Amino acid sequence: MKPVKVSNGIYQLSVAVEDILFEGIWEIPKGVTVNSYIVKGEKTAIIDGVCGWDGVPETLIKMLNDIDINPEDIDYLVINHMEPDHSGWIEDFKKIRSDFEIVCTEKAAALLEHFYQHEENIRVVKDGDSLDLGHGRVLEFSEVPNVHWPETMMTFDSQSKTLFPCDLFGTFGIFDGHSFDDHFNADEHPFFEEEGLRYFSNVMATFSSQVKKAVEKTEALPVEVIAPGHGLIWRKNIQTIIDAYKRYIDYSLHYGKKDEVMILWGSMYGMTEKAVYHVEKYLTNKGLTVHSHRVPETSLGQVLTSALASATIIVAAPTYEYNMFPPVAAALEEIGRKRISHRLSYCFGSHGWVPGTVKELKDIIERTRMKWKLVESFQFKGEANQEDYSRIEADLDSLIEEINAL
Ligand code: FEO
Repeated sequence: MKPVKVSNGIYQLSVAVEDILFEGIWEIPKGVTVNSYIVKGEKTAIIDGVCGWDGVPETLIKMLNDIDINPEDIDYLVINHMEPDHSGWIEDFKKIRSDFEIVCTEKAAALLEHFYQHEENIRVVKDGDSLDLGHGRVLEFSEVPNVHWPETMMTFDSQSKTLFPCDLFGTFGIFDGHSFDDHFNADEHPFFEEEGLRYFSNVMATFSSQVKKAVEKTEALPVEVIAPGHGLIWRKNIQTIIDAYKRYIDYSLHYGKKDEVMILWGSMYGMTEKAVYHVEKYLTNKGLTVHSHRVPETSLGQVLTSALASATIIVAAPTYEYNMFPPVAAALEEIGRKRISHRLSYCFGSHGWVPGTVKELKDIIERTRMKWKLVESFQFKGEANQEDYSRIEADLDSLIEEINAL
């Protein structure tokens, strides 16, 4: 992508990434951007890195040429976060210039040696420290541990009032080449919501309590522009992304959207599957939005996205070797690891000789400490008959009462 001028002396260098599993696990059907920023005072800093997916150092040099910056004139590398999507280019950059100074937290400095065998010219900064780039440009640093790793910090340019929060306020999605919030229109808002939820649920949800503190820290600063490591730069209405993050945190720590239900399901020979279609129709007719995800066919990333959005998670799975059908159990374990808590839940499914699905769901809820409220659930032998469907519908009516009481 071409460099983008953010404001006087600040440029975004960004790469668009598709066709990978993000962090080696998360499907990104709409891609992701990885953004770094040049900040110029009398001295020049680069904040976070453009990753090696796109041919660093060649890409970096080309982008710097486009904005008339000689790579050898970069004095500081500000590493807000050590995850290699932001730091993985350091070794390549060393080939361009070896005497730059790295600015990072103490915890990041400890990882530099192990990740990149780099031990020299490191300036360790703490919460409240600053770096004067000259010409009135001062970078201020705020530690925000576990957003998303323990070493993370944010950088604030007090001259332009631009915050560089790295992963915080990021989203998945390549916005059709748009770089700024005011360049995408109302038609694209559902795309933004989906990719924001996908990113938060896949990358951030485990750390929602710490993310909440970082959002509060952001609101205490006189921020006018938010320039994250992934997704759009926010300059027209920064409150949109701040409020979106507050919602995602709330979905994670409390419950999701009251009128949205995820059915997480699997089926072996079609018996549970038939009942799932019946339940989907019943809930849709009651005015609820249903996200129905069969596993293992659906990616874990998509399951987490819907789990974060939904106040209610219905689990439908046959019994398999005395327990829950394994792909459904595995997806639930991942939801538990992401600490998506306080959901309403209901469970149903087919069994042969012995029912085991509800028992395992109770075990998972307890072990992962998700604090879900599981209403009276139901397992039927073989294929559900009319009596079984009547029982399921009565259970769903009780569930809807619980939903309405949220
Ligand atoms: Fe974008 Fe936690 O790295």
